[in-house]
Amino acid sequence: MNRFRVSAFFVGVFFVGILAGCKKDFFVDDNIATITGKPTEYQLNLPKSFPPMKIPASNPLTNEGVALGKKLFYDPLLSSNNGQACASCHQQNASFVDSAVKFSKGVTGVLGGRNSMPIYNVGYATAWFWDGRAKTLEEQVFHPITSQNEMNQDLGLLIEELNNSASYKKMYTAAFGQGEITFDKTAKAIAQFMRTIIAYTPKPLDTSKLDASEKRGLIVFLDEKKGDCFHCHELGNFMTNYKFANNGLNVNAINDPGLYAITRNPEDLGKFKVPALINVKYTAPYMHDGRFKTLREVIDFYDIGFHFNPQTNYYLDPNLKKHFDNSTNKPTPRAWTEQDKQDIINFINGLVDESININPAFSK
Ligand code: HEC
Ligand code: HEC
Repeated sequence: MNRFRVSAFFVGVFFVGILAGCKKDFFVDDNIATITGKPTEYQLNLPKSFPPMKIPASNPLTNEGVALGKKLFYDPLLSSNNGQACASCHQQNASFVDSAVKFSKGVTGVLGGRNSMPIYNVGYATAWFWDGRAKTLEEQVFHPITSQNEMNQDLGLLIEELNNSASYKKMYTAAFGQGEITFDKTAKAIAQFMRTIIAYTPKPLDTSKLDASEKRGLIVFLDEKKGDCFHCHELGNFMTNYKFANNGLNVNAINDPGLYAITRNPEDLGKFKVPALINVKYTAPYMHDGRFKTLREVIDFYDIGFHFNPQTNYYLDPNLKKHFDNSTNKPTPRAWTEQDKQDIINFINGLVDESININPAFSK
């Protein structure tokens, strides 16, 4: 065995270990990657209103790491048939979702079961995916690469392919110092790149930037008798509380238990990650299963379409349950008018940062 094969073997052994349940340990410490190089610190220029981003001590942002992460993000080499990159399902010109499709096709032609998620401001989340199954952004990277419905890649082979590339060898050494290319370094670099994708709009916190309709929309958004949206889509830089909630989608019908699949806690049945309402103008269709094509459909859902059912959807969030009438088994009519709904839509459509769709720093 040459040394690439040996390292591929060890990576293989390692990932059998991961599948056996020690995933967390692998990603939090540096027992494979010995960082000996001298990469240069990446200056993350955050908007003034943003809190500091929590970046793991084991994976500081460096110029070399971010550059490597970007190259990997756009490289179809990461997939089993070398035909699909991360960017295939996270397209920059579509605000980093899979443009206009409900579900994405993996390399084998099979459709996945969930709608692609945008990857801006992901450095601020505390768990990743609709069901929160990834506890670190580094761990997140592992899932699409190995998932049969997505890139369907054998990690041992991937590491071998990367080790065989002279240009990658150079870039990994610049980012992480001398040594073999490992999956740990690969995940770290991609996570670094994603942490640099920041979407910002001053509008949620500076109402002077809103036009008349958006201003009215904000008021309806906050009004507990009307939209009442802010408990989950918290007003602020990110327009989410980054928690998981059951917003009354008829989950039983599509057989996706959400967070429950991870925690096995019955109260988590039908809970999904509360999405950020930034750039949703560009990320239709909506919800974890892409069931709504337009914001209008979303608003009508919150008005008259959400479900509470003691058998199938007992854990509807209290902030929606209070708008449900048990005697009619339907949402209680709210005080919002046609104009109110249109104003909310205009408010949400105004929460955009178009620059991330074209910024060359995030482009191929
Ligand atoms: C085949 C399409 C596809 C490919 C390829 C793909 N993704 Fe995704 N991505 C998705 C889908 C679908 C989801 C939501 C999946 C879920 O929740 O189960 C997602 C979710 C994510 C999330 C979670 C965002 C959040 O806010 O929680 C991140 C981050 C991400 N992908 C990054 C990547 C990276 C990095 C790669 C490449 C290594 C990649 N994706 C490859 C389709 C894809
Ligand atoms: C109880 C918490 C909660 C409340 C209240 C709530 N939402 Fe949501 N919202 C969610 C969750 C959770 C999802 C994702 C659900 C899923 O896909 O399974 C979501 C999804 C969305 C989406 C889709 C975004 C995307 O990227 O797919 C939009 C738009 C939205 N909500 C707007 C609103 C508006 C407008 C209101 C008020 C009328 C509102 N929400 C009230 C929790 C809430």
